[in-house]
Amino acid sequence: MLKKHSYHVAVMGATGVVGQEMVSILEERKFPISKLSLFASERSAGTTVSFCDEEIVVSELTENVFAGIDIVLGATDSALSKKISPHAVSAGAVVIDNSSAFRMDTKVPLIVPEVNGNQIATHHGIIANPNCSAAPLVMALKPLHDAAVLRRVIVTTFQSVSGTGIGAMDELMDQTRAILSFQDVKRNVYKEQIAFNCIVNWDADSFTGFTEEETKIMEETRKILNLPALAITATTIRVPVFRSHSESVNIELQKKLTPNEARAILSMMPGVVVLDDPSRGIYPTPLGVAGQDDVYLGRIREDRSVLNGLHLWVVGDNLRKGAALNAVQIAEHLIGGV
Ligand SMILES: NC(=O)c1ccc[n+]([C@@H]2O[C@H](COP(=O)([O-])OP(=O)(O)OC[C@H]3O[C@@H](n4cnc5c(N)ncnc54)[C@H](OP(=O)(O)O)[C@@H]3O)[C@@H](O)[C@H]2O)c1
Repeated sequence: MLKKHSYHVAVMGATGVVGQEMVSILEERKFPISKLSLFASERSAGTTVSFCDEEIVVSELTENVFAGIDIVLGATDSALSKKISPHAVSAGAVVIDNSSAFRMDTKVPLIVPEVNGNQIATHHGIIANPNCSAAPLVMALKPLHDAAVLRRVIVTTFQSVSGTGIGAMDELMDQTRAILSFQDVKRNVYKEQIAFNCIVNWDADSFTGFTEEETKIMEETRKILNLPALAITATTIRVPVFRSHSESVNIELQKKLTPNEARAILSMMPGVVVLDDPSRGIYPTPLGVAGQDDVYLGRIREDRSVLNGLHLWVVGDNLRKGAALNAVQIAEHLIGGV
């Protein structure tokens, strides 16, 4: 645990969607900061980002910027993080990384504080933040596993474009505008049109047929829950929604839980809100959950097609619990603030 009154914190990738969210969450949660350093590519060097009534100038990220920095919040792509993060660690910082670079490294803890925060102390300088669909998923699975033991999980995601970064948000906006004004649709970030469509990020392994995103959800869920043999399968779909990922989750348990028992168990989980009233048509939507810290669960119902089956609908803001909030919560644990 780092122990000081206040900390020199840095954000790598401070101009991206996750980086910007990190800066505002650090301010909102009054993280004890003596100095905030912001880094991005040379394209953004010299631009400013607001933090606590200050305009902080963004600097170019290089291997040599880390002297004196206590905590680095990483929000760059994984290739860059893999190259740069070891330099931050050598300079004495702890890196909390949002990319996938270190998530499955056996020496790196992969953390959702409410689920496995007790593993933060095992770090050797790098702590990984999970994939933006895995984080809300484990928030729902952990209390059900503790109560009735998971046997199998089938998850299908409906992921917003902000999960692919700032460029994908612009692409959805630009394509929507183009279609509504009868102009040609341009594609840069996604191979297929995302506006008015549902698509797969087509990087599938030609042997297994699973995409990288699907593999991440399956592997990371097993690692975070410390259930290496958990039977889990995933399908990930990108939908024309700006913010928040939704997931249809089908679970088989060793012990039967009624929907009411499941609601009661899930309601006790910190960071989870059960919003589930079928009689009034109340359930969480991505629009309703955007900007919220908690993971919202609804449509909890019995799956009678299998023994001890349950269905749930999980919605979490990918930029908050799926990324920036979870990273700041890890930092709070690290300094012993929670
Ligand atoms: N978006 C999500 O919901 C989410 C959730 C969990 C994890 N993640 C992960 O978090 C990371 C950031 O994602 P994002 O969605 O925020 O992406 P993004 O919006 O595209 O932002 C990328 C950031 O990286 C910076 N960058 C790019 N090339 C750089 C370089 N050569 N040197 C220094 N900085 C560079 C960009 O700076 P410029 O502005 O200067 O280009 C920008 O600040 C990714 O690894 C992603 O997989 C994202």
